[in-house]
Amino acid sequence: MRTPVYELHIQPMFRATDRDHMIPFGLNLWEYDAVVEHAQHVLERLEAGTMPTRALGGPWPQEWIDLFRRWKEGGFKRLELGKAQFAVTRSPSAVTVKATGTYPAAGFLGWLQLESESDTAKTYVLYFEAPDAPVAGEADEFEFKERYSSSDTRTLFIHDSTGVQEH
Ligand code: HEM
Repeated sequence: MRTPVYELHIQPMFRATDRDHMIPFGLNLWEYDAVVEHAQHVLERLEAGTMPTRALGGPWPQEWIDLFRRWKEGGFKRLELGKAQFAVTRSPSAVTVKATGTYPAAGFLGWLQLESESDTAKTYVLYFEAPDAPVAGEADEFEFKERYSSSDTRTLFIHDSTGVQEH
């Protein structure tokens, strides 16, 4: 069974209202390190059915709680920010974002993902996912492409391990 990954399967279960209400208690649910540190407390509250509070939607379904437990038991897997060469081409019909490079080691996967959007900007993030156990052999090369309509003229940003750059 797929090992749960924080950015893909855990963080999306926490709503903005959960995060907002827990920050005064020193627990930012959208911060990997904080959730790892408090994972035992979080699991206890989830299992007791006392978090999220009844007044704000009530407890999670059992499947979500089981997923959180499996993430914890699977060693708190998370993604890493990747590194690549980026090329952005703008044709009359489409904007194409291309990332090329070599993974850090064999068995890695990666992709370009739309991370956030606002009225004026869209930001893509380059993620790498390490294999659950080291894989022998040479690191593969990769090429990822994301394409959107050129009628979308918002400023394009790309987030990778070097930071966030405008393209
Ligand atoms: C999935 C979402 C949530 C999780 C995992 C969570 C987790 C927790 C944990 C682990 C504690 C104990 C803190 C400690 O002992 O250090 C706690 C306390 C608390 N949480 Fe949350 N929480 C969530 C959502 C919410 C929401 C939506 C509210 C809205 C009011 C809320 C309000 C509180 C309050 C008032 C306390 C302190 C009082 C108490 O211990 O019952 N939490 N929460």
